[in-house]
Amino acid sequence: MNIALLGYGTVGRSLDELLGERPVGIVVSRILRRSGKTQGDPRMTDDIASILSDESIEVVAEAMSGEEPAAAYIESALLAGKHVVTANKAAIAPMLPKLLSIARERGVVLAFEASAGGVIPWIANLRRAARFDRIDRFCGILNGTGNYLIDRMTCGLSFGEALAEAQALGFAEADPTADVGGFDLVNKSIVTAAAAFGCVPGVETPVPVVGLEKLSVDFMHLAAREGKTVRFMAFGRCAANRPNAQAPALALGVAPVLLSSTSLEAGVGRNYNLASFYGDVAGPMSFFGQGAGGRPTADAMIADMLDIARGAVPATPPVTAAPDDSLLFGTGLFEDGTRIAGTFVEIAAAARREGERRGFLAFEPDASLFSR
Ligand SMILES: NC(=O)c1ccc[n+]([C@@H]2O[C@H](COP(=O)([O-])OP(=O)(O)OC[C@H]3O[C@@H](n4cnc5c(N)ncnc54)[C@H](OP(=O)(O)O)[C@@H]3O)[C@@H](O)[C@H]2O)c1
Repeated sequence: MNIALLGYGTVGRSLDELLGERPVGIVVSRILRRSGKTQGDPRMTDDIASILSDESIEVVAEAMSGEEPAAAYIESALLAGKHVVTANKAAIAPMLPKLLSIARERGVVLAFEASAGGVIPWIANLRRAARFDRIDRFCGILNGTGNYLIDRMTCGLSFGEALAEAQALGFAEADPTADVGGFDLVNKSIVTAAAAFGCVPGVETPVPVVGLEKLSVDFMHLAAREGKTVRFMAFGRCAANRPNAQAPALALGVAPVLLSSTSLEAGVGRNYNLASFYGDVAGPMSFFGQGAGGRPTADAMIADMLDIARGAVPATPPVTAAPDDSLLFGTGLFEDGTRIAGTFVEIAAAARREGERRGFLAFEPDASLFSR
């Protein structure tokens, strides 16, 4: 199977290396790079059109950074009748229904295992479970950078020290805004909802987010005094079968979450991920592993390509859900000790409104949301 690789950074290079080290019948025959960077390897080109018109290429493996032009290239590749495998949640999350509809019309697969949970088979297991089980909620430590910062601050480092260490080790990007601000988790919550619930929020319903920027050692001590710890998480809940409802009801969120120090999540250290979902027959299921890194992410992309080679079928496009804030609720604890109760939307709004005055806020979900 001939593939074209778009992007030759940490993930793209790793994908090329892995397929060179361990032949599995997948050949990287073209590599898209920016103009001026195509020298030295006859497979490299800066011309996307030449890749899309090359009939020998069955799969486009997209490992570029940023939303555009990656999203446009993914759409064009699907329209050209090529399967697409991507690690780029920022490119697909805003337009997943459209991209999956195009894929279905053209009879090709858009696979995005590597976009959430890294090498953990998270999307694959959600899809597999959702064929029969009704999944109604998920929660996950799905951002390795955020978890690394929290883990190191638990050991006494300041936010700045922990971030500098994470950057030196390659666990955080030079610009950590997407990770620390929760935007990476927002995109992961959307692709997770598509796989788990078969629905995504409408474009006019942004996922409410509380970032990690204000996390302090003082707050970690406050939490510890209550027998709690913090983990940076994405979570969601769906009510699919309400009588007379036109669309499933959905609420997604991203926040630092206050959890018991004895919970499974509290034991997740360094840049690891742990994600859980709840099926009505299977009950709770949790998945742990490396959530990022060039080789683990490329490994997840290769798994998608092997599925395509074995005849994976196009996924059903998700429907647009009706927002229902009441599905996610609990309390918020500010660093100054103030507690507020309400829906997660209300608590996230309070964090924005009062954060300067009251400091860091962590969300403590109602026990029904995360119970095992
Ligand atoms: N790294 C991880 O652990 C990880 C984990 C899961 C998912 N992902 C996702 O995987 C994707 C790649 O991540 P990465 O860590 O490999 O990022 P990266 O090291 O920054 O590499 C991104 C690559 O995309 C290329 N690129 C950007 N715009 C381009 C354009 N217009 N034409 C051609 N090439 C272009 C860049 O080229 P230049 O070198 O010229 O800038 C670079 O080679 C991202 O979407 C990321 O969110 C990464």
